Amino acid sequence: MEIKQEIERRAAEIENLIASYLPREEGWQKTIMEAMNYSVMAGGKRLRPMLMQETYRLFGGNRKMIEPFMAAIEMIHTYSLVHDDLPAMDNDEYRRGKKTTHAVYGEAMGILAGDALLNYAYETAIKAFDRGQEQDALSQTDYERMVAALQILARNAGIYGMVGGQTVDIESENCPGMTKEKLDFIYHMKTGALIEGAMLIGAVLAGATKEEQRIVSKTAQQVGLAFQIQDDILDVTGTQEVLGKPVGSDEKNQKATYVTFAGIDEARRQVEQLSADAICSMESLTGKNVFLTELLRFLISREK
Ligand code: IPE
Ligand code: IPE
Ligand code: MG
Ligand code: MG
Ligand code: MG
Repeated sequence: MEIKQEIERRAAEIENLIASYLPREEGWQKTIMEAMNYSVMAGGKRLRPMLMQETYRLFGGNRKMIEPFMAAIEMIHTYSLVHDDLPAMDNDEYRRGKKTTHAVYGEAMGILAGDALLNYAYETAIKAFDRGQEQDALSQTDYERMVAALQILARNAGIYGMVGGQTVDIESENCPGMTKEKLDFIYHMKTGALIEGAMLIGAVLAGATKEEQRIVSKTAQQVGLAFQIQDDILDVTGTQEVLGKPVGSDEKNQKATYVTFAGIDEARRQVEQLSADAICSMESLTGKNVFLTELLRFLISREK
């Protein structure tokens, strides 16, 4: 099977899994559940849960405790997109081929849907601790690994991760004097942090050693940086039809990106170099996951 079809097949499986963790649309507050479910089920590549699951498999993980964490990271990622699209931020009307959450439900519900998804992500991740989730009983080691996974999830989503990066991204709009150092900081934080969180949680839950975790972090940061640079390239060269979100959003908001900073050819070269570096650092691990390597290779030429 071609890698593209295999990725789509696995994404569809992950989507079913995520759907099983979404809230029922009921009660006086049911609008918020509708807005949450609309945002999560609109589509998307499901890259972060996929990276989490494949890293887990790379280290021999094969239990159900990974599943609530896979759903949780996609909820946090989706919340970051819902808020990123708000009028006060990037002010975009399309996402994942559909109207953005605030465009459908109004700005107040857009804000609340983001808040709700962030909180529900933790409610979901904590389900990993429920007895009965696993066929085998949870051991002391399992609990310790799950606590470590929760710490990674929380830290990488917050002010030392995605929110920190979005802060500097927003403050740097219309601001001359961007430096490479600051741009790298923004990318590592706003995009790298959730990708690193995803892969590291997979590694930690499967019992990777400290040294292995260090290699996973490094790999994931390279993947994250390459992924965001490719996103910037597609913002210039893509089409809304394929991307499912508007092109030209960065120019509209006067964002400094790798493309404006170094030019499109250099940006493309960086994507290739960083991806090759990521594959190389991952291959220094003892465990192997052929699909994961192919996935990282595929991301270099992704069109959405
Ligand atoms: C978009 O992420 C935001 C960035 C970090 C570039 P994705 O490109 O993974 O978005 P979906 O989940 O597929 O919609
Ligand atoms: C946002 O980067 C990354 C997030 C943390 C949401 P962008 O603003 O470039 O993401 P898109 O292009 O809107 O998906
Ligand atoms: Mg943005
Ligand atoms: Mg945006
Ligand atoms: Mg973008």
